[in-house]
Amino acid sequence: MKGIILAGGSGSRLYPVTMGVSKQLIPIYDKPMIYYPISTLMLAGIRDILVISTPHDVPSYEHLLGNGSHFGCAISYAVQEAPRGLAEAFLIGESFIDSGRVALVLGDNLFHGGGFSSLLMNAARHDTGAHVFGIRVADASRYGVVEVGDNGKVLSLEEKPEHPKSDIAIVGLYFFDGRVVEIAKSVKPSTRGELEITEVIQAYINDGSLNLEILPRGLTWLDTGTHKSMMQAAQYVYAVEERSGAKIACLEEIALGKGWVTEADVRKAANSMGYGSYSRYLKYLCDEHH
Ligand code: G1P
Repeated sequence: MKGIILAGGSGSRLYPVTMGVSKQLIPIYDKPMIYYPISTLMLAGIRDILVISTPHDVPSYEHLLGNGSHFGCAISYAVQEAPRGLAEAFLIGESFIDSGRVALVLGDNLFHGGGFSSLLMNAARHDTGAHVFGIRVADASRYGVVEVGDNGKVLSLEEKPEHPKSDIAIVGLYFFDGRVVEIAKSVKPSTRGELEITEVIQAYINDGSLNLEILPRGLTWLDTGTHKSMMQAAQYVYAVEERSGAKIACLEEIALGKGWVTEADVRKAANSMGYGSYSRYLKYLCDEHH
C-alpha cells in the first residue's frame, strides 16, 4: 500500500506564522509537524510516500526529508498549484497511486496512543472499500461529522456542519481502494471551491463499502490548525516525552524497529544532525539496540 501526505494550503489561520514558512514545517515541540503524519503512515507499514505541497514549499520538504532512505522510506514529491481541496490529492497522485490501494493523511494531524499501530496495520489490510476513523470531539462543527446508525453503519456525512448530527468527527487519515482516483474525478467543487474529501467518502457510503472505526478514548488525536491547537499539541508531546523518555514520531526509531534501516544508518543520521536532543536520542537508541 502507498501513502500520500497533503502538506499544502496557505495556513492562513496561522498568519503571520505561516507567511514565511509552510505550516507543516513548523515544529511541534522537537520535530517538524510533518514528522507526525509520516510516522502514522510508517506505523501502518507504508514506506512508499508522496508528499504534496505548494510550488513554493516542495523544495523545503525535499531539503528536510530527501528521498526518505535514512528512515527506510521512499519519498517522492508533487505540487498542488492552489488549495483546491483534499480530494485533489488523488488526481495529482494518480500515476503514483497506479490503481492500487492508498492511504491519505493530512500533514497537520497527530495521533498517539497505545494500540494505534495494530489498529493501523488492520486498516491497511483491507483489500476493498474505504476505511475511515471517527473520534468524539467537543467541537464537531470544525470537522467532517458522521451520523451513525444503531448497526454502526454511517447514515450521513457532513463537512463542517453548523448543527452537527453527532459529536463524531472524521480524522484526517483515510484508507481507500484503487477506485478512489476515478471517484475523485467525478467530484464537483463545493461552494467553497474545493474538491471535498467528504464527497469521496460519500461515494463509498452510497455503495455500502465504507468502514467506520471509532477510535477508543485512550487514543489522542490532535490537529494543529490554530495557534491554540498547535500549542496544545506541542505541550502534549513535551509532557509525554519528558515523562517517558521516549520520543513520539521519531522516524529513525520506527524504521529501526521495523528492520527497514540498520543501527549504522541511524548513527549516520544522528551524526548529520549535530548535538541536539533529537540527535542524542538517536545515539541512545543505537546504544540500546546492541
Ligand atoms: C479536513 C477535512 C475534515 C476532517 C479534518 C480533520 O478539514 O475536510 O473532514 O474532519 O480535515 O483534520 P480541514 O482541516 O481541511 O479544515
